[in-house]
Amino acid sequence: MTVDEVRIRARERFKGICRVCKFCDGVACAGEVPGMGGVGTGTSFKNNIKALEKYRVNLRVIHDITEPVIRTQIFGKELSMPILGAAVAGGKINFRGYFTEEEFVSSQIEGAVSAGTIAMTGDGGDPTLFTTGLESLKNAGCSGIPVIKPRKTRDIIKRIKDAEKFDITAIGIDIDAAGLINMTRMGQYVGPMTVSDLKEITSSTKLPVVLKGIMTVEDALAAVEAGIAGIVVSNHGGRALDFTPGTAEVLPEIADAVKGKITILADGGVRYGIDVLKMIALGADAVLIGRPVAIAAVGGGARGVEMVYNKMADELRSAMILTGCRDVNSIDRKILRCHFVALSDE
Ligand SMILES: Cc1cc2nc3c(=O)[nH]c(=O)nc-3n(C[C@H](O)[C@H](O)[C@H](O)COP(=O)(O)O)c2cc1C
Repeated sequence: MTVDEVRIRARERFKGICRVCKFCDGVACAGEVPGMGGVGTGTSFKNNIKALEKYRVNLRVIHDITEPVIRTQIFGKELSMPILGAAVAGGKINFRGYFTEEEFVSSQIEGAVSAGTIAMTGDGGDPTLFTTGLESLKNAGCSGIPVIKPRKTRDIIKRIKDAEKFDITAIGIDIDAAGLINMTRMGQYVGPMTVSDLKEITSSTKLPVVLKGIMTVEDALAAVEAGIAGIVVSNHGGRALDFTPGTAEVLPEIADAVKGKITILADGGVRYGIDVLKMIALGADAVLIGRPVAIAAVGGGARGVEMVYNKMADELRSAMILTGCRDVNSIDRKILRCHFVALSDE
């Protein structure tokens, strides 16, 4: 099975929900939420791609780095690469039930583990989504990061207690789902959270708590104040709010404010190893990939997912050789030639 074969099979199985475009940029699927697209005009999804495209990389080959090290540690967990699986849940809603949630989530988890990394699992209007994620982690006998929607504080703490029974790396809250209408329609409260809510949560558990959906310096600083262990600079793959900037556009200012105080993960539009390199240069400790893993899971199960990680890892190693980066910690902004040019300057 090749990556191309996985993609062909995914295109057949998705039955139009995802067109598995040659380049996954949010254009064909704009507005398809539920589905695989970005919300509204799809601008936030498209901005993720455009923001990454704006950076140019300095090619440097007079050095002695032949075997760059991409191994890293996130929340004390050894990973073979600075690439983790993003939470992609909701098979019934997003994929019209063509695949069972169990089948889909286990492929995401097992594929990540075979590649030496870990995946996040999700939550949704159907509360069993969260438990399916936990069960799938348990069945795969592996670690991961379950992500809870921004429910009432007591409901989040209850889910954290359930999750603590499993050998997980950290626990997440996708706080940018605060306005998710699908959840409220299904009678599941979601809403914004205060620093005091977050402090109650961080003090209720020994697990590192990760806030997913941070797009401003203000929210990043508030996360540090609340004792959060890590943030994901993310706009939910463009699925939460229309017209947000791309994540690679805001990442540098957020990193300038909180780097070293908190773990910084970033996602949105990461398609190749060079995108991973750019995100790390801009201040991320590691990245998450969403749609590439979802497509691989549908087209090739766990093996397809593993292949996607390994392909991106190979591309990252090659990009590190060509930019003179010895290991993940030595990737910095010096490898970038152009700093971000505002879209209005085009
Ligand atoms: C179909 C779909 C379902 C998703 N479900 C969740 C979820 O349950 N929880 C969550 O935190 N993020 C969810 N996300 C967002 C991803 O975790 C991630 O932030 C995003 O996909 C990254 O962008 P990328 O797909 O361009 O890599 C979902 C994304 C998609 C496409």
